[in-house]
Amino acid sequence: MKKLSVIAGILSLVFFAIACNEPAPAEEPAAEEQSAVKEEIIMPESSELALLMRKMFDENMAIKQGILNGELPTAFPEEFLAIHSSNATEPEKITEAYHAMADAYLEAVKNMVAADKDHSVTAFNHMVTTCINCHKTVACMGPIPKIKQLRIKPDEA
Ligand code: HEC
Repeated sequence: MKKLSVIAGILSLVFFAIACNEPAPAEEPAAEEQSAVKEEIIMPESSELALLMRKMFDENMAIKQGILNGELPTAFPEEFLAIHSSNATEPEKITEAYHAMADAYLEAVKNMVAADKDHSVTAFNHMVTTCINCHKTVACMGPIPKIKQLRIKPDEA
């Protein structure tokens, strides 16, 4: 039984570390322990904002690939404007500071779309920095390592 609560403890640690609210893929507990452990984990529904964030990650990964292949983004992704209005798992995080960081992010997206070939990598990486800035200050640190994967490194560009 002691072992079980240790596993549950580790699971909840991992749970809070990775995403703001997403259950992380943790080590599978042994089969006979699984059913008991499951009861300890509360699976929250993903909020609108969490879904938008995942979409922003995926689309930016595609934009990064495009830039590396010499294809610049051409259109401002209007759907990202919903960063201001989507329901969050923790509504108390949606403060004035949050909206200011969201504006800084959207401004950086605009600049990235407007950038010419010589500036697209810098503009893209700056946009990624604005994601990280919000996560460092008003959101949560968990997704930062994942967000950093978006960065275009000097040897890639
Ligand atoms: C203005 C603040 C802000 C900006 C900018 C921002 N985020 Fe987030 N992010 C949040 C908040 C708040 C959450 C928690 C969402 C929730 O659970 O409702 C979050 C959650 C996430 C998550 C976890 C989603 C999940 O599955 O639970 C990822 C991944 C993420 N953001 C990636 C990004 C990426 C990539 C960018 C930039 C392209 C970005 N974020 C920009 C505030 C921000």
